[in-house]
Amino acid sequence: MIARPIFHEPVMVSETLNLLSPKEGNTYLDCTLGGGGHTLSILEATGGKARVIGIDMDPEAVAYSKERLSPFGEKVILKEENFIRAGEVLRELNIKGVDGIICDLGLSSWQLEDANRGFSFQKDGPLDMRMNPRGGFTAADILNSWREDEIFLVLKRGEVPFASRIAREIVRYRKWKSFQTSGDLANFIRQIKLPFKRTMHPATLIFQALRIAVNRELENLSILLSSLPDLLKPGGRAVLISYHSLEDRLVKNSFRIFEQNGTLKVLTKKVIRPTLEEVERNPRSRSARLRGAERR
Ligand SMILES: C[S@@+](CC[C@H](N)C(=O)[O-])C[C@H]1O[C@@H](n2cnc3c(N)ncnc32)[C@H](O)[C@@H]1O
Repeated sequence: MIARPIFHEPVMVSETLNLLSPKEGNTYLDCTLGGGGHTLSILEATGGKARVIGIDMDPEAVAYSKERLSPFGEKVILKEENFIRAGEVLRELNIKGVDGIICDLGLSSWQLEDANRGFSFQKDGPLDMRMNPRGGFTAADILNSWREDEIFLVLKRGEVPFASRIAREIVRYRKWKSFQTSGDLANFIRQIKLPFKRTMHPATLIFQALRIAVNRELENLSILLSSLPDLLKPGGRAVLISYHSLEDRLVKNSFRIFEQNGTLKVLTKKVIRPTLEEVERNPRSRSARLRGAERR
């Protein structure tokens, strides 16, 4: 079953453990299980004597982690779920609140590198982009059938420059050729020759904006953030790792509101970034931004 040796290299593990400070007998919630890297670090830090509930909406991630974490037996409970259902998952397990939460947003390397998932403009495959391929609409559905104003909003929310021009060009382009593969979209982006600044790759931003829309990433994160204090025991801690400013802004603003109303204490006055050494070892960590808070 474990077809690839590395599903995903976990990011900012020591910073996460420093904040969560996991202890034997405690219960933790990993909202974004992926390849199980953060869950494993919590289990190892406690000699396998903590319990971790792991959630991922990608069935492949859950299947992979089930096998990887099987040596920990009943200390690990894994569920294929959207983390917006974290409260229900805990209730079903009769858990009133957890001692720590890790939420490491974005994609795992396995998802990004699998051409069949359509997340990367560097690999040609079906233009899907669903983290959970069992339902919902794909990126191809958006490009081929959504109205121009809807496509414009997707791009604008993803902070893509020239969103209205790109939406117009998409609608014109699809009249003679539909978008079927990530290669089709990459070719389209090359053809329209956008005057982006050299530091920004237009395909990176356009692919990211579509991915965010397909997976309702900002809506899901807002829902999770609003329920964060209810998921934690008093004194319990949450660590969130985001990979773009849209997510980090949501985390920062929610933490500020919860601090003002006395529900959470922010533990990271300034966002924490990965060390240079980590970025060199794992370039995918370069955009990571970590914030932590504690339930009062
Ligand atoms: C960056 S990876 C996590 C990697 C993990 N920390 C590890 O060490 O392997 C993010 C994971 O979150 C999952 N994910 C993203 N949004 C989700 C959501 N709303 N509900 C459940 N899982 C989600 C993705 O499917 C992906 O597997």
